[in-house]
Amino acid sequence: MKRVLCVCLGNICRSPLAEGVLKSKAQEMNLPLRVASAGTLGFHVGSGADKRSVAIGKKYNVDISNHQVQKFSLEHFDLYDIILVMDRMNFRDVASLARNESDLKKISLYLEDEEVSDPYTGPDEGFETLYIILEGHAEHWVRRALQ
Ligand code: 4NP
Repeated sequence: MKRVLCVCLGNICRSPLAEGVLKSKAQEMNLPLRVASAGTLGFHVGSGADKRSVAIGKKYNVDISNHQVQKFSLEHFDLYDIILVMDRMNFRDVASLARNESDLKKISLYLEDEEVSDPYTGPDEGFETLYIILEGHAEHWVRRALQ
C-alpha cells in the first residue's frame, strides 16, 4: 500500500486536517492509501490537533479528534512514498534532512506551486478556507499516490 505523509510546522492545524481529508477521500474513492502527518517543529508533541481543525473536520465528516502530534524525523523518508509539505519553509526544513536524491524526490508542496498558508494565528474563518483548499486538491493526490 502506498504511504503519504503530510507535513506542516506544528502538526496541529494544517497537516492533521490534510491527513484526515486524504484518508477520507481515499475511502470515498475506495482506493487503498495509508496517510499520516508530522510537524517540523516538535513543540506540540503530546498534544492533539488544534480544536479549530478538529471542529472544521467534524463539520465535513472528517474525524481528526484522535490525532497525536509527531515530529518529522529522518526515518519518515523510509516509511513514506510521498511527503506533502504545506509551505516553502516546511519544504526547506524537510529537504535539509534528505540524505540523497531519492529522499528529495519524495517531497512536494501540497498545492504544487502555491503554499497552504498557516491559519494558526488568524481568525476562525481561516480554517474553513483551509479545509476547502485541502479538499480541492485531495483527489489529485490520491490518484498520484496510486499511479
Ligand atoms: P500548523 O500551524 O503548522 O499548521 O500546525 C502552527 C501551529 C503552531 C505553531 C506554528 C504553526 N506554533 O508555532 O506553535
